[in-house]
Amino acid sequence: MTNAETKMKFDNSRRLHERANTVIPGGVNSATRRLPGPSSWEWAEGAYMRDVDGNTFLDYHAAFGPIVLGHNDPAVNRAAAEAMQGPDLMGIGISEAEIRLAEKVVEHVPCAEQVLCFNTGSEATYMAVRLARGVTGRTKLIKFQGTFHGWHDYLLMNIASPADRIGRQDPGSAGQLQDAIDNTLIARLNDLESVEALIRENPDQVAAIFLEAIPHNIGCVMPRKDFVEGLRRLCDENGIILVFDEVITGFRHGLGGFQSHIGVTPDVSTMAKAIANGYPCAVIAGKRDVMRHFSTEPGGKVFVGGTYNGHPVGVNAALATIAALEDGTIHERTFRLGDKMRAGLAEIAERLGIPMISAGFGSVFTPYFMEGEIKHYEDLLRNDTAKDIGFRQGMCDNGIYMLPLAIKRNHVSAAHSEADIDRTLDVAETVLKTLV
Ligand SMILES: Cc1ncc(COP(=O)(O)O)c(C=O)c1O
Repeated sequence: MTNAETKMKFDNSRRLHERANTVIPGGVNSATRRLPGPSSWEWAEGAYMRDVDGNTFLDYHAAFGPIVLGHNDPAVNRAAAEAMQGPDLMGIGISEAEIRLAEKVVEHVPCAEQVLCFNTGSEATYMAVRLARGVTGRTKLIKFQGTFHGWHDYLLMNIASPADRIGRQDPGSAGQLQDAIDNTLIARLNDLESVEALIRENPDQVAAIFLEAIPHNIGCVMPRKDFVEGLRRLCDENGIILVFDEVITGFRHGLGGFQSHIGVTPDVSTMAKAIANGYPCAVIAGKRDVMRHFSTEPGGKVFVGGTYNGHPVGVNAALATIAALEDGTIHERTFRLGDKMRAGLAEIAERLGIPMISAGFGSVFTPYFMEGEIKHYEDLLRNDTAKDIGFRQGMCDNGIYMLPLAIKRNHVSAAHSEADIDRTLDVAETVLKTLV
């Protein structure tokens, strides 16, 4: 938080951040947690969170998406605590809970015939890369401008690129191997011809196409159905593995992920975040014919390992989260609240004459401060960044937390009420009026 005009004080947060700065580079444990002002938290429950200075916020950040049921969901916490009654970490064999989780993923996710369990989304997408290369014997990957798939060298490229880096090599970090960068090709969202061209230019060299099922790392740019069907066809024709990264969309947008909405089944899918409502758990799921190449299978040539894979706490939390989602009422409700939010924001912006596209899907909403069609990443360059951040900061200053960075998504959880949405829209109107 930065706005000195609000009544909120951030002295305790500031003190903690100063202390953290000495022993933790930048004072935070993930670069995406570094914001213009300090924030440290002492309490979170349902849709609300309170910082160490006693400021309470209605939360739409949802920790970048895992919180789908609400913070500290009692059933999920109970399941996590129960895991601590049994064996902790054995490091050999398999538990019944791990089998049940794999069975649940197979039951619900269209591409899933077999499943492996990790702790983070980055581990899952990394393993998907290695699997695709191991299975096809090829090295190149295609990803899209604007998508994010985790922190590893292979796919950390061309996310929120500036205009002059769009479509050209735009690595996300110093220290990435040039070889990894050279082997990752960048295509354009919703532009099948751009994918066809890369496949043509790199005959029999492309191992996998990675699609963030909905590119939510740039808010919400919807993939067109014919585009995704086209990817499926191109992969089939060219022996390429189609990977849907459903780390955000999996379980948040339905038990079957976005693939069950769009009706296109990838070969492999990665899921994390909402699978366990805030506990560390991630999976890679795919067709047996591909998954059998992992070295967990005798003779499998694609090495996979991990001391904490299938950790009982994360697995139990995932089972409880999936159980809560299974009768469909939570998705029905969060989608309805998401619709209400999107429609409400669009109506206010139109009434005030503020150019806005109230984008989103299901429980995710992203107001872009622009007009016209959004089909490709570069369309987002028309977004009015100052207005976007001004709106979010204004919401935060009024106790409604929307990450104060441009083109970020917001999340509704099962713990948000109709009254929360109404209050959010009232505050949004007040804040938007200041931006006219
Ligand atoms: C689509 C997508 N894939 C992968 C990841 C990496 O997941 P994690 O942060 O759990 O490593 C993220 C994280 O935000 C993501 O949004």
